[in-house]
Amino acid sequence: MGHRSRVRTLAVVAAGALMASLLTGGGAAAASPPTPGGPGAGDPYYPSYGNSGYDVQAYDLGIRYNPGSGLLHGRARILARATKDLSDFHLDLVGFTVRSVTVDGTAATWTRDPHELVVHPAAALPREHRFAVVVRYDGVPEPFRDPRSGKPVGGFLRTPDGGIAVGEPEVAAQWFPVDDHPKDKATYRITLTVPRQFEALSNGLSAPRTVRGNWATTTWRLRDPAASYLAFVAIGHFTVHRWRTADGLPVIDAIDSGITGSLRRRIESSLARQGDIIAAESSWFGPYPFEAAGAVIDQVDVGFALENQTRPTYVSTFWGNPDRPTRGDDVVVHELAHQWFGDSVALRRWQDIWLNEGFATYAEWLWYEREHSFTPQEIFDHNYDLNTADAPLWTVRVGDPGPDRQFDKAVYLRGAMTLQALRVAVGSADFFRILRTWAHDRRNGHGTTPQFIALAERISGKSLGSLFDAWLFTTTKPPRPAVTSVQRTGATTATGTARTAQVEAAMDRWTAGLQERVSENAR
Ligand code: TRP
Ligand code: ZN
Repeated sequence: MGHRSRVRTLAVVAAGALMASLLTGGGAAAASPPTPGGPGAGDPYYPSYGNSGYDVQAYDLGIRYNPGSGLLHGRARILARATKDLSDFHLDLVGFTVRSVTVDGTAATWTRDPHELVVHPAAALPREHRFAVVVRYDGVPEPFRDPRSGKPVGGFLRTPDGGIAVGEPEVAAQWFPVDDHPKDKATYRITLTVPRQFEALSNGLSAPRTVRGNWATTTWRLRDPAASYLAFVAIGHFTVHRWRTADGLPVIDAIDSGITGSLRRRIESSLARQGDIIAAESSWFGPYPFEAAGAVIDQVDVGFALENQTRPTYVSTFWGNPDRPTRGDDVVVHELAHQWFGDSVALRRWQDIWLNEGFATYAEWLWYEREHSFTPQEIFDHNYDLNTADAPLWTVRVGDPGPDRQFDKAVYLRGAMTLQALRVAVGSADFFRILRTWAHDRRNGHGTTPQFIALAERISGKSLGSLFDAWLFTTTKPPRPAVTSVQRTGATTATGTARTAQVEAAMDRWTAGLQERVSENAR
């Protein structure tokens, strides 16, 4: 913090103590002086991500981006509440030049660390005080590169015609000052100004765009609070399609204009099914949690899809690429399932990532049953038999995989298998009751693995500790669940060896798709 005035700190502390003694009628033990907020949220996977000492309610972001120069000008207005007597506090911000910071309208000083913007307000912020921080900043936003491969895996990624901010967990701090941990959800208003020939997409619903001179402005608003990694922007040339599902849910789809021909038609046919997919998922998980849906398909050199709140982003290669199995509708099913599991019910700790990825993968299995009549149990059996006792799938503790394995295939596959093992143990009725209660009771909130286990035990009336231990917390292959014939077979016409061959072929395709997908996640 360098040149910061020590005299002023003491004055603030003295004034605070005086005020505290006046409030308590004097004579009481002197209140402890305000202290700095911490530089991390206390998540052992990512110690510097998020912060402590305050809680954000709302981000109001004004972003001007010029795809030609790559320059971003930002104004972030952050409404927060102090959770202790705060002398200073941290925001996460990577790169950029900070031009000014105010707290409650008064100029503040600041210092920078590689991952942090440390704000020194003119006056301390008492516990429970609600305050507004305004940060003006500019610069060329950077991608987040995997420290081992140097490959861009998140943050702000340049595209041939603009840029896109997506990543998990690293993204938000690469484009705005933020309390960058999913445990601090907030609402977002994102106002994007770009040269008028470009589109600017983000979460939620937008007001009609306004044009001034060569620039166009679009304001996007998210009704419900979101985790910071689920806020996104995508800027470029897009064909935007606004429509409603049969249930009346507004959908905004944007496909990069450079995607043409049969690839474009395959993408459009998957996106046209979003209404059916949301209806199916609503029948399994309860009402769709948000006010809007849709998709952004961008041309960017990374192989992922991400479940941005209300509007996931996808790369076009999910719909066809010589070196990659086509995922087609499956990946849309997966990202839409995250709207319940991951977005509405968010993580409080990154170690619980299977609550996101295992659940979204299980939704793919339910969709497979609906579309192809292969049951989740058959998919489970296939993968259980395929992965012999020495397979890497069993060496990952899915309930605490560590940051290096956070998006390992095991988190997806063994995570989904955990849910099928639970379903076998409690029966289908209680199983879906558990999923729906989880989504309902924790809507727009958070959940942890112990809380999920407690809910499953409460609803089923069964003791499930050893089941979850075996599936989530061991590094050995769990025993095969005892399945009844009713659970094994779905409503399909094929029987016997013909059916087995069909299942094997379909499963090989699905497993190859998953493998290809998660290899992109390798950090
Ligand atoms: N959550 C993403 C999914 O749907 C996967 C993912 C993990 C990801 N890390 C990422 C996507 C980084 C984009 C960037 O499975
Ligand atoms: Zn996922």
